[in-house]
Amino acid sequence: MKILGIETSCDETAAAVVEDGIRILSNQIASQVEIHARYGGVVPEVASRQHILAIIPIIKQAMSEAKTSWQDLYGMAVTVGPGLAGSLLVGASVAKAIALARGLPITGVNHLEGHIYANWLVSPDIVPHFPLICLIVSGGHSDLVLMREHGDYVLLGRTRDDAAGEAFDKAARILGLGYPGGPPIDQTTRDGTAAIQLPRAWLKGTNDFSFSGIKTALLRLVEGGKVSSVADAAASFQEAVTDVLVSKTVEVAREHRVRQVLLAGGVASNQLLRQRLVHSSAIPVLIPDPILCTDNAAMIAACGYFRFKAGKMDGLEMDVIPSLRLA
Ligand code: KG4
Ligand code: ZN
Repeated sequence: MKILGIETSCDETAAAVVEDGIRILSNQIASQVEIHARYGGVVPEVASRQHILAIIPIIKQAMSEAKTSWQDLYGMAVTVGPGLAGSLLVGASVAKAIALARGLPITGVNHLEGHIYANWLVSPDIVPHFPLICLIVSGGHSDLVLMREHGDYVLLGRTRDDAAGEAFDKAARILGLGYPGGPPIDQTTRDGTAAIQLPRAWLKGTNDFSFSGIKTALLRLVEGGKVSSVADAAASFQEAVTDVLVSKTVEVAREHRVRQVLLAGGVASNQLLRQRLVHSSAIPVLIPDPILCTDNAAMIAACGYFRFKAGKMDGLEMDVIPSLRLA
C-alpha cells in the first residue's frame, strides 16, 4: 500500500511516498528556513505564500523519485493540525483537489501523531512495541505520551510554558546564534563544556516541563556580562534542558512499565539528547534519523497508512484544525 504524504503545517513544504507505513520510497522537503531567518522566526503570511509556490513541484518530485503513478497510490495522508492555519490550508486544499481529480481516499493526520510515526521508519526490520512512551519535543510541543496501541494516546505530561524547541530558539537568540536555534546550539556545544550551573524546574509530582526559567537565567547571565564563552553557555543550556527531558522520560517509562521509549520531533535530532536518553534508559530506546525528526511528509504518510488500516478516512468536507490536540 503506497501512501502519498503531504505536510505544510509550519515552514517546510514536504511530500513523500511511503509503502506499507515502513518503507520510504521518496522524501522531499522544500525548506523556507532562510526566508524566515531574516525575521528571527516564522512569519505566517509569508509561510502560506511559499507553500503555494512550492507544493505542486514538491509533490511531483516525490511521485517521480518514488517512480509512482497516481494509479499506484492507495491514498493520501495530509497534516490537518496543529500548525499555522494558512499553511495547513495549502496542504489540505491540494490533497482534496487531488482526491477529487484522481478519486483517491484521504486521511487527515495530526502533526504530532506524525512525529511519533517517524519511529516506524527507523528501519523496515524494526517495529516499535506497545505499550510505549514517546517524548515529543518540537518547536511547539514538549509532550510525554503513553501509546497503548495504534491511535491510542494518553497525554501524561506537557510543557507549562516554552516548548523545548522554543527554548532552544530563544536561547540561541540570547546568545546571538541565529534562527532556528537548535542546530547552531547543537553545533556550538561541541566546542564548549557545561561549566555554568543553570536552574532546572523539576515540577516534582508531575510529568510536566517548564523551560522558561532556564532561558531567563541565561538571559540574566548574558545581560550581566557574565558569559565569556558562548560555547560554554550553549553547552550549559543544552545540558540543563536535556537533564530534565531525559530524567522525566526515563522515570515515566519505568512507572508505566512500557516495552519501549521513542523520541520524536525536531529537538530529537539533538546529539546530546539522543545519546543521553539511550544511555540513561533501562528500557530499549528508538530514535529516527535526524532528517525524520524535523518536519517531513514521510512521517505523515507512515501515520496515514495505519489510519487507513484502521478505517479512518476523511471526506472532502475535512477541515484544518490549527489547535488540534493528540489526546
Ligand atoms: O518538529 P519541528 O521540525 O517543527 C515543529 O513541529 O515545531 O521542530 C522544530 C524545532 C525548532 O525549535 C528547532 O530549533 C528544533 O526543533 N531543533 C533542534 C535541533 N534541530 C532542530 N533543537 C535542538 N537540537 C537540534 N539539533
Ligand atoms: Zn513538527
